[in-house]
Amino acid sequence: MSFDVQTRKKDFPTLSREVHGRRLVYLDSAATSQTPLPVLDAMDGYYRTCRSNVHRGVYQLAEEATDLYEGARRKLAALVGAPEHGVVFTKNATEACNLVAYSWVRRNLGPDDVVLTTHMEHHANIVPLLHAREDLGFEIRWIPVREDGQLDLEEAARLLDDGRVRFVAVGHVSNVLGTINDVAGIAAMAREANPDCIVHVDGTQAVPQMPVDVPALGVDFYALTGHKMCGPTGIGALVARPELLEQMPPFLTGGEMILDVTTEGATWAPIPGRFEAGTPMIAEAAGLGAAVDYLTEIGLDEVRAHEQQLVAAFLEGLERIEGVSVHGPRDPALRGGAISFKLDGVHPHDIGAMLDSYGVCVRVGHHCTKPLMRHLGVNATARASVYLYNDLDDLPPLLEGLEAAASFFAR
Ligand SMILES: Cc1ncc(COP(=O)(O)O)c(C=O)c1O
Repeated sequence: MSFDVQTRKKDFPTLSREVHGRRLVYLDSAATSQTPLPVLDAMDGYYRTCRSNVHRGVYQLAEEATDLYEGARRKLAALVGAPEHGVVFTKNATEACNLVAYSWVRRNLGPDDVVLTTHMEHHANIVPLLHAREDLGFEIRWIPVREDGQLDLEEAARLLDDGRVRFVAVGHVSNVLGTINDVAGIAAMAREANPDCIVHVDGTQAVPQMPVDVPALGVDFYALTGHKMCGPTGIGALVARPELLEQMPPFLTGGEMILDVTTEGATWAPIPGRFEAGTPMIAEAAGLGAAVDYLTEIGLDEVRAHEQQLVAAFLEGLERIEGVSVHGPRDPALRGGAISFKLDGVHPHDIGAMLDSYGVCVRVGHHCTKPLMRHLGVNATARASVYLYNDLDDLPPLLEGLEAAASFFAR
């Protein structure tokens, strides 16, 4: 393994517990990751030593809290290569996608425009667009997914060809297929077809597991979430081109996000504060800042290399079980840590329940990707996802549980 996973495992208290008398094997990090001690300490530290509100305080505690909050923005911006004022904190990636839908899509698109997205998107990236379409009447075109789990980019070129696509929404890494999409290539194709096209990327599954440089991707918006990258729940971010944010009206309004208020109206604070109405998630930002430090210290290229090794072993192991077939690309270089599969004759919920009795946590269901489920011709899949604290010891319990599920339910 590329770094010392045993040492890392000790940083995650939950991983030392047992369930049903068995060692916990956590294979659901694509849903939410575990939390390392430095993140717990950072949040605890805020509540114990400097709990106060941010930005307006003139006393020491408030300055410390503000430093934690703004420090997290600085760290996150550095992690993804973005300028600080291009990082807006949201409560999660879903809110980041909604911010784009409300403050850009709804303000700029009309019935003659076209939006391009894909069949493998998470609902967070498509439902705000479907909702906006009800009011605005634009057309949505869908890039299909090929048999091998990759986007059909030839078809994408055809869908872009008439130059009418004004907005592209695409995921960086699929939470079901694991596919890593060439978002830089798609952004370039979209701009070639229409130089005014805006590109929004759902980076929720990418940032936790690989180095990401948002400006280098050449995209306009990039959504992420803290709880899948060792951070706490309740905080995410929209990373955006500052020039674009400057032109956008607020999404939520109220305290903190104004410049001035009179009985006649209000004016908006400079970015990014304009998009952060009300008391923000201060403890969560402290935790997210610590999570960024934690990932930076390990190195996201190390995390990626580690996951690729694990994914290769997990794919091989899964394919040795009769009746198992894996969705998505077979080559670990083309995919992230989420591995969805089916087991002939066994419902994914039965797989999940059997694995639970072996101490193994996997996710089963539609994974908030119903268009993709329809495309795959299934109602649900089982999904095992690995992260930096998993190792090869986590594979045998998964395989043992699957063998048991196969003999109990199918054979
Ligand atoms: C690809 C993808 N996009 C968006 C989301 C939504 O993230 P959140 O629930 O933190 O808003 C998820 C969460 O599962 C995801 O996997």
